[in-house]
Amino acid sequence: MVIADDQLIALFNVDGTIYAIDDLCPHQGAPLSEGLFIGCVAVCPWHGAEFDVTNGKLLSGPGVRDVRSYQVSIKGDDVEIELS
Ligand code: FES
Repeated sequence: MVIADDQLIALFNVDGTIYAIDDLCPHQGAPLSEGLFIGCVAVCPWHGAEFDVTNGKLLSGPGVRDVRSYQVSIKGDDVEIELS
């Protein structure tokens, strides 16, 4: 998890590609970066909602909506996230 412009962003590495989504679960605000991560799926640590980290889509569980996903680019050793 990183903080960018006061936003909590969760970063996930899927087979060498970095993806960025909002860290807060839209159900009750759990940190998605602290849950299980299986394949390309982040599992909310509190109630088990599942999100596709490649696009933020809610896959199952009590989540109420998708989470926002962000464009990521790698510049040398830096990970850049487009927040706009
Ligand atoms: S806080 Fe994530 S499913 Fe409830």
